[in-house]
Amino acid sequence: MTLRIDRDRLWRSLMEMGRIGATPGGGVGRLPGTDADREARDVFVRWCREAGCAVTVDRLGNIFARRPGNDPARLPVMTGSHLDSQPLGGKFDGAYGVMAALEVVRTLNDASVRTAAPVEIVAWTDEEGCRFSAGMRCSAVFAGTQDLDSTLALADPQGLTLGAELARIGYAGPEPVGGRAIDCFLECHIEQGVVLEAEGRTIGAVVGAQAQKNYEIRVRGEQGHAGTVPMTMRRDAMRAAARMIEAVIGLAWRFDPHPVVTVGAVHVVPNARNTIPREVVFTIDSRHPRTAVLAELGTAVRAACGDIARDLQVGVEIEQTAEREAVTFDPALVQAVRDAADRLGFSQRDMFSGAGHDSCNLAALAPTAMVFVPCEKGISHAENENAQPDDLAAGCDVLLQVVLERAGVAR
Ligand code: HGY
Ligand code: MN
Ligand code: MN
Repeated sequence: MTLRIDRDRLWRSLMEMGRIGATPGGGVGRLPGTDADREARDVFVRWCREAGCAVTVDRLGNIFARRPGNDPARLPVMTGSHLDSQPLGGKFDGAYGVMAALEVVRTLNDASVRTAAPVEIVAWTDEEGCRFSAGMRCSAVFAGTQDLDSTLALADPQGLTLGAELARIGYAGPEPVGGRAIDCFLECHIEQGVVLEAEGRTIGAVVGAQAQKNYEIRVRGEQGHAGTVPMTMRRDAMRAAARMIEAVIGLAWRFDPHPVVTVGAVHVVPNARNTIPREVVFTIDSRHPRTAVLAELGTAVRAACGDIARDLQVGVEIEQTAEREAVTFDPALVQAVRDAADRLGFSQRDMFSGAGHDSCNLAALAPTAMVFVPCEKGISHAENENAQPDDLAAGCDVLLQVVLERAGVAR
């Protein structure tokens, strides 16, 4: 008889985690290093210890909960995601992958199944990168593709660093970050897109994720009184930034298929109703399956912003703040996801992830694959993000099967 997870317990765990950092609109706001982050971590650690796991925390606050295997020589089968969220995010982005991993361990415990290899649950710190403006950095340091010290030094707009805030909430752990091998990494995640729901399919076997280039554009003008400076004498940073934002988003249509280009954050100095701004800083998040398209787009962004800056006599500085190549996940592990979905009788399809995930970093370290499940209308990074208990359970059952296959059931 096929071992199956406890669908109601998974849902209860998600709803309980969803009450931590709950927002008025029915979502969650759990930025890294905040009290809500600490509360979520504390609950997660308690649940992992109750499930018999040995819990460790590394210097970046990545939390690992290891269920021992019979053969300590075997590398751990690692699975998890992130507990941090967008400022006004949903209950499922990230939390689903962590709770699904925990549910797999709870199910193995209930069935007294011993695996040959250890099974290790992980909750990565700051996947979203909203507060410290660089996402997915902590799993990248673990994978050996990013630097520890510069990640600890990442600062929020108030100048508080990730390292200091992790220490403040008690999650600047003693363990070194990474430097160790794992058997593989598996991540369950809501699709954050509309394909599975539109096609009425339950499981997405994720074959890869698109490339990404992020920028920060700093526009410098001349501060002045809104009522007294004639329009002909202004060096208006806001007017220039507004024109640049429209221009860079419009560049997406130059390419077919077009990249996705998002200006999600704008910071205005002094941000006063009756003062002409002296500085406007805005972010650009650009993504496409092909890195070469993003390189060409970046060149066009620089040219467009430079032209507008000259025309409106303002200064402009363009800094690339993040770059991620397109990622292909491990074909054999992706096949294991497809086979598990087939064995369990779930409809499925291959998918390419538009969103970035910690898995994109782990793919540099070990065989990695993701399991997508539908979310309502593809909505994510929004408080009304929603998913169905049956779909979440299906993804978790697929995860259980692949974990059992990779970890091996001890005889
Ligand atoms: O930005 C992303 O793609 C991820 O959801 N943090
Ligand atoms: Mn996520
Ligand atoms: Mn996200």
